[in-house]
Amino acid sequence: MSDDVFREGLLRGRAAFITGGTSGINLTIAETFARHGAKVTVIGRNAERAKAAEDTLRAAAQHGGDAQALSCDVRDYASVERTLAAAVERFGELDVLVNGAAGNFPAPALAMSANGFKSVVDIDLLGTFNVSRAAFAHLRKPGASVVNISAGQASHPAAMQAHVCAAKAGVDMLTRTLAIEWGPLGVRVNSIAPGPIDDTEGMKRLTPTDEMRAKLAEQIPLRRYGTRDEIAQLALMLCTPLARYITGAVLVADGGQSLLGFGGLTSLYGA
Ligand code: NAP
Ligand code: COA
Repeated sequence: MSDDVFREGLLRGRAAFITGGTSGINLTIAETFARHGAKVTVIGRNAERAKAAEDTLRAAAQHGGDAQALSCDVRDYASVERTLAAAVERFGELDVLVNGAAGNFPAPALAMSANGFKSVVDIDLLGTFNVSRAAFAHLRKPGASVVNISAGQASHPAAMQAHVCAAKAGVDMLTRTLAIEWGPLGVRVNSIAPGPIDDTEGMKRLTPTDEMRAKLAEQIPLRRYGTRDEIAQLALMLCTPLARYITGAVLVADGGQSLLGFGGLTSLYGA
């Protein structure tokens, strides 16, 4: 990889598909990719939010980058296939897939209906499977990269998070199994497990008050929440030749939170 790519855009000429890329961390990933020259398709359910994301992404694009946003529910396989076909029609074969769509709400298992549990598992885990499986036909080439957005809950239990813990643990095992199956074709599959990230819907739901935020931050070795940019830069690295020998990895970006066993989130809820 020559140093020129750092000037010309690390993803120049590459096509990316980002689920949940209409808001939060995934939108910042999409912006970063578009700034580095990628042609980015983002998807979410809400059409208005998708339109706003498309405008933001087009304004951010550099080095030949471009963007479109489409409405799609990752739980609906037929819709996923149609939406991927539309992405490929517009920007060509895929080089990069980011599975970021997810749902979360804090609730004890006993206050969670079967459908509440299923909704989160279906968005996070089944959705990641659906999109990866349907995208593979367009991705199957050396140099392609899949990044699954996991969470600390995948490997550390936390009260009020039975659905997310189960779903994201499944996502990380999917990462590892697909890395084995697709590695011989040159397709890399990795997870990023963020800790608490500032200015996100996820943390608005999990730590809604300043007091909870401060208490959780105190239990992180780096003593702060992460930023959306910090996760986006890691995703960018994973999709470039800088990471060409990394597959099946779960890269933890949590300020050291999990070193202390992740008990902080549980203690916020008095469990
Ligand atoms: P967010 O802003 O709420 O983003 C979630 C995105 O997923 C939205 O674009 C949403 O759009 C989309 N989405 C939800 N259900 C969908 C479905 N069924 N089909 C298609 N799209 C769907 O969340 P965030 O807090 O930035 O989190 C982003 C990712 O980071 C998630 O994977 C989350 O688990 C992970 N994460 C976040 C944190 C954190 O601190 N926030 C920590 C660890 C991991 P629509 O609602 O319009 O569908
Ligand atoms: N506590 C307990 N149960 C809840 C809940 C809460 N705070 N919020 C939703 N549920 C339950 C609902 O009651 C419903 O169960 P029921 O049919 O038995 O009543 C089930 O979850 C599905 O809810 P619904 O709103 O129909 O699902 P949806 O598929 O439209 O939305 C969610 C999925 C629930 C995950 C919703 O919060 C969402 O769309 N989240 C996306 C954004 C997000 O979570 N961002 C953070 C990502 S980290």
